[in-house]
Amino acid sequence: MHEIHLSGTDKAEKYEQLLPQLRGLIAADSDLFIATLANVCAVLKEHFAWFWVGFYWVDVAKNELILAPFQGPIACTRIAKGRGVCGQAWAQNQIMVVPDVNAHPDHIACSSLSQSEIVLPVYNKRGEIVGVLDIDHTELATFDEIDARYLRELCDALTDNLNVPEMA
Ligand code: SME
Repeated sequence: MHEIHLSGTDKAEKYEQLLPQLRGLIAADSDLFIATLANVCAVLKEHFAWFWVGFYWVDVAKNELILAPFQGPIACTRIAKGRGVCGQAWAQNQIMVVPDVNAHPDHIACSSLSQSEIVLPVYNKRGEIVGVLDIDHTELATFDEIDARYLRELCDALTDNLNVPEMA
């Protein structure tokens, strides 16, 4: 059983402390896909106090994202490829940092409280996108290049250490 400890207050410092512990968490149960994603959400939600932290996973047959482990309020269960910030991160294969979701033309509002968002693609070992990590917060401009850099490292740790189930 892993306990996550954190003493830093600066954002980058927090990530520096969290990442090795998250890597340990991921590697410890590399065969337990859902459990590990759930614990990753729990760690991020607890230590950063963001509004919503979760994964959407690719359903290849339906060409849509399906809600996966998350922490926070109820969220939409399906997102078509190219739709919303999540669907765009998938379709365009890029990290999306949205400082003000109200100004984003195709943001899908699961909660009106959400004001800013970051979405990162998650890859399998062949470099294909198998899901996205989506984080929302109730304040504007919560996420920047520091979050993008460290959360990219986290998603890459999932690629390297987690046995991701193949979806049709
Ligand atoms: N805002 C996302 C939808 C998912 S919720 O934020 C949890 C989007 O626009 O894709």
